[in-house]
Amino acid sequence: MAVLGVDFGTSNSAAGVARSGAPHLIALEADGQTLPTAVFFDFEAKKMLIGSAAGRALLAGEEGRYMRALKSLLGAPLMREQRNLLGEKLDFIDIVARFLARVREAAQAQTGETYDRALSGRPVRFHAEDARNAQAEVDLREAYLRAGFEDVAFMYEPEAAALSNRALLQRDDLGLIVDIGGGTSDFTLFRNGAKAIDILSSYGVRLGGTDFDRALSLETVMPLLGRGSQIRHAFGSDTHVAPATIFNDLATWQKIPFLYAPDSRRLAKDLAQYAVEPDKLARLVSVLGDELGHDIAFAVEAGKIAANVDGTGEIDLRVIERGLGVALDEAGVDRLLSPLTQQMAAAARDTLTAAGKNPEDVTHLVFVGGSSLMQVTRGALSQAFPHAQVHHGSALTAIVDGLSLAAQDAFN
Ligand SMILES: Nc1ncnc2c1ncn2[C@@H]1O[C@H](COP(=O)(O)OP(=O)(O)OP(=O)(O)O)[C@@H](O)[C@H]1O
Ligand SMILES: [Mg+2]
Repeated sequence: MAVLGVDFGTSNSAAGVARSGAPHLIALEADGQTLPTAVFFDFEAKKMLIGSAAGRALLAGEEGRYMRALKSLLGAPLMREQRNLLGEKLDFIDIVARFLARVREAAQAQTGETYDRALSGRPVRFHAEDARNAQAEVDLREAYLRAGFEDVAFMYEPEAAALSNRALLQRDDLGLIVDIGGGTSDFTLFRNGAKAIDILSSYGVRLGGTDFDRALSLETVMPLLGRGSQIRHAFGSDTHVAPATIFNDLATWQKIPFLYAPDSRRLAKDLAQYAVEPDKLARLVSVLGDELGHDIAFAVEAGKIAANVDGTGEIDLRVIERGLGVALDEAGVDRLLSPLTQQMAAAARDTLTAAGKNPEDVTHLVFVGGSSLMQVTRGALSQAFPHAQVHHGSALTAIVDGLSLAAQDAFN
């Protein structure tokens, strides 16, 4: 039975199989092998778009519901809450399942094979908490089954990356995979043996590029919408700080769709009515009313990447108000994100401790995952392993490459 390797990522997904011992990736988008893990329920056309098409529909202002970072919801009770979408009652497992079914159909159409089984990647830890972490895999398994697969096996994402990058190491070298993705950071310490790799330990934390976006949004954009601003009491002259939750949710990719509900909109209006700075809270009201949360998240992500690549960037907020924007530079990004990159580096060190090794023992450090392109992550992680040779694996396909190589043997 043919087995499809699937990297279901927080931000981007990919699928592939092995051909003559090399990974062969499925073209999931017109121009590439990976596709954004995003869906858009188009209310007018009455269909579900996925990948880049979903993002284009959102940015074009089509009427509908956009969702990204669905992987971050796995393991949470709301995965099983149903909502009405395009005339059907769907829970979030159904939505993930439909996304995976599209991936399966594309693979079958391109290869002519039928894929009844999948080898799926999974982060070492979806959540810090054990019960949620276990439930997340249960949820993801169910999504694969609802997508039409008869069975699914799981492999830790960084172990897949170790497989696809072992050629960088000489025999007996000690490698550390550093996979900093959209939702999680994952690490695998491995020794390159004569025939196979020997995994010494794997570990991970629930922190990734979407958390970078969140931190940047909270500190730079949300204050423009009234975060930290004073609200007058209805009676008397006292004031209090605007409640934090609504800003936290608006800055968090996977929570944005939940804000487009009457209770949040009412809260925003109440805050605006009593605000000491009404202009700021008026922006919050219009962002919730016009459903601009994801537009902001995309603007923050684009600003983050520009600041990382060019040294300076802008979070362009013209969708909210003419001329509105936030300038970002490398130093500012560094300052705001270094508490997160320090936690990533600590998790990398814990991976070594679990195997009884020291940072000096690591001979090769292999960076994969989109957020390993961030200078701040590279800096913090390379500093932690001063003796290691640093390699940059293929940021977005290292994991699916490894899953493709391992897929056919995963059920033997
Ligand atoms: N050039 C870049 N500079 C900085 N960050 C980038 C760049 N390109 C992509 N990213 C970030 O990489 C992240 C996505 O990386 P990746 O595709 O590896 O994650 P994922 O596999 O979907 O997530 P996970 O493995 O955590 O489930 C996003 O947060 C994105 O903003
Ligand atoms: Mg990934």
